[in-house]
Amino acid sequence: MSMKDSIRIVPQGEFAIVEFDMVGEKVNKFSTPMMMRLKEVVAELRGSSYKAAIFVSKKPKIYIAGADIEEIKHLNTPEAVNAAVTGGQSVMNEVEDLPMITIAAVNGACAGGGCEFIMACDYRIASEDGSTRIGLPETKLGIIPGFGGCVRMPRIMGLQASLDVILNGKLLNAKKAEKTGLIDLAVHPSILMEQALKMAKEKMGKKRRKTFKPVGLPNKLLEGIAKGVVFSQARKTVLKMTHGHYPAPLKAIEVIKKTYGMSDRSRALEIERQGFVECALTDISKNLIHVFYLTEMVKKQTGVSSASVKAKDVKHLGILGAGTMGGGIAYVAADKGIDVRMKDINYDAIGKGLKHARDLWMKLVKKKVINSYEFQQKMDRVTGTVDFSGFGLMDVVVEAIVEDMEIKKKVIAQTAGQMRPDAIIATNTSSLSVTEMQAAHPRPEYFAGMHFFNPVHKMPLVEVIRGEKTGDEAIATIFELSKKMGKMPVVVKDGPGFLVNRLLLPYMAEAAFLMQEGMDIQKVDTAYVKEFGMPMGPFALMDEVGLDVCMKVLKIFKKAFGDRIEIAPIMEKLEKSGRLGKKNGKGFYKYDEKGYRGEVDGSVYGDLGLGSPTNPHSNQECIERGVFAMVNECSRALLEDHIVDTPNEVDLAMIMGTGFPPFRGGLLKYADSVGTKYIAEQLEKYAAKGAKRLAPAPQLRSHPKFYAT
Ligand SMILES: NC(=O)c1ccc[n+]([C@@H]2O[C@H](COP(=O)([O-])OP(=O)(O)OC[C@H]3O[C@@H](n4cnc5c(N)ncnc54)[C@H](O)[C@@H]3O)[C@@H](O)[C@H]2O)c1
Repeated sequence: MSMKDSIRIVPQGEFAIVEFDMVGEKVNKFSTPMMMRLKEVVAELRGSSYKAAIFVSKKPKIYIAGADIEEIKHLNTPEAVNAAVTGGQSVMNEVEDLPMITIAAVNGACAGGGCEFIMACDYRIASEDGSTRIGLPETKLGIIPGFGGCVRMPRIMGLQASLDVILNGKLLNAKKAEKTGLIDLAVHPSILMEQALKMAKEKMGKKRRKTFKPVGLPNKLLEGIAKGVVFSQARKTVLKMTHGHYPAPLKAIEVIKKTYGMSDRSRALEIERQGFVECALTDISKNLIHVFYLTEMVKKQTGVSSASVKAKDVKHLGILGAGTMGGGIAYVAADKGIDVRMKDINYDAIGKGLKHARDLWMKLVKKKVINSYEFQQKMDRVTGTVDFSGFGLMDVVVEAIVEDMEIKKKVIAQTAGQMRPDAIIATNTSSLSVTEMQAAHPRPEYFAGMHFFNPVHKMPLVEVIRGEKTGDEAIATIFELSKKMGKMPVVVKDGPGFLVNRLLLPYMAEAAFLMQEGMDIQKVDTAYVKEFGMPMGPFALMDEVGLDVCMKVLKIFKKAFGDRIEIAPIMEKLEKSGRLGKKNGKGFYKYDEKGYRGEVDGSVYGDLGLGSPTNPHSNQECIERGVFAMVNECSRALLEDHIVDTPNEVDLAMIMGTGFPPFRGGLLKYADSVGTKYIAEQLEKYAAKGAKRLAPAPQLRSHPKFYAT
């Protein structure tokens, strides 16, 4: 098979059906050979007498996934980027300039370059299959659409809707794409081709509908004002959301502002190209592409090294405990088509778990994401019990009861007695030893950890924890189950705090020392959010987690790691102050009845015996002490304890589990960018001022870089 087979013309009477079917790949993507082949096909069409060309994909769930990210990653000079983008733009122009009617009939993912291609066609029809997602995700990779997307999309959808797609990197389903005008028609998958042919018959011989035509409001003055408001509002929103850390959406606004309404296509595309070149060579883009690769890596992994170990299919999931976590896990699993049975100690608790799931689905009904039939189908997948009825059928049971080793052990032994011998139990504990718990299971190889984060429906990470006796099949099954539930699994060796909490705790603990030394809560949190890019500062985070939980886990760490864990005296006072954080509306911050965080609770300083803040440290010191404490702990976790295998897992887990700023590429990409030598020197300096806990670990000193390249 040659590249010729990747795009084929299949004549159908007066029409050409053009089939995308990239040879040797599961997906169609616009790699250089694919673009060259498209150029050949377009030339052939240009010289033909076909009345219409209909572009389809032969891949099951993919139309065209986009440009080849691997190629973008390796473009290292402005000249190389410019040449690649010029090539792409000119092929899209050639598609737009074809003499016949062109129709894209889309089924499956149609992203980035794929979406830019269909926008160069006259008409777009898409199937309502769940796999159909159309849009421009480029800004999520730190670049802007460069094959004409910034120029054509606003002409097709209008300014407001296209800015929404481009600035947020959105992918739309067929219905939404039809509603916003990105496509002309959304149809049932079974009649996609029929409708495309019908459209071709209707349109052939009629005037072409080219995308590229000057747009504009009738009144020039009005146009100027309206445009100005839309762009300044878009800029404000982007800055509010990103604190200026993501340059690509701002560049996209600039490009669209300059090119919208322009009648000279090549000039407009030149402006887009320049914008692309500026973004593509930034470290931020390279970091975001790194994060993209990390997520792709998980899709290919199985969680185990042996290819002969296969995950078991999980159709029936049992959940012990229908509380905050159990209810969340039930919702996510049932949402993805898994039958769920929750067990708790009374029906009130079951009712709460069911209500949690129901409320989340009702929100989707209100937003018209699912209809009432789908709602009912999902609800029907969740049942509840106060005994073990039905547990003989379960493939996996996730334990999410109280955080108490003795109770958990008792319940695990009981549950194992009710299940098939080859069924798996996974604990959702956040701080207890999986290895110790495993001892209660009569077949410990079928016991693992499955650590979800709160709120389960929002947090993408699952730590799959390998206890000392956990078998490969259990790990592979929990890994696959996590993916089936739409989560991002990372395999972690058992150990205090596993990976994410082990790294987060020094960050939060350090904030308590900063406060003790006179720092203002708001000032510290704002510095972390605005300057460093964390989703929330350490004080807000401690309130979310629960101040009692933070203290409990700190004590576990002190027991495990000894003197290198120091607990700020104010943390001990906090424990006695009745402040639990968000859950009782009293923490470092004030909370309203609905649980929304308000301003800092000024009385907390007095309650902890502190005077008014004097802010003795710079923002740089505050940020470095917290972030470098995480890097320091990570050097031990990764290089000494081998909690995970590679820096990739650390970066993925920190981004997905804590919201560590993706534009920094993850904790260890960030550490490499500033240099471990600098980090060790700074930690040394802070340690010399009395913070012994911050003394750099030997592993940090001995490793100039975490990543090999
Ligand atoms: N809340 C979090 O942020 C979070 C995050 C990750 C992991 N976890 C872990 O998840 C587990 C559950 O936490 P949660 O916050 O959902 O607690 P929760 O108090 O909200 O829910 C616990 C539920 O377990 C039920 N239960 C107690 N004993 C039981 C038994 N013997 N059999 C069946 N059900 C029983 C309780 O009635 C309650 O409904 C804990 O191990 C916790 O460490 C919690």
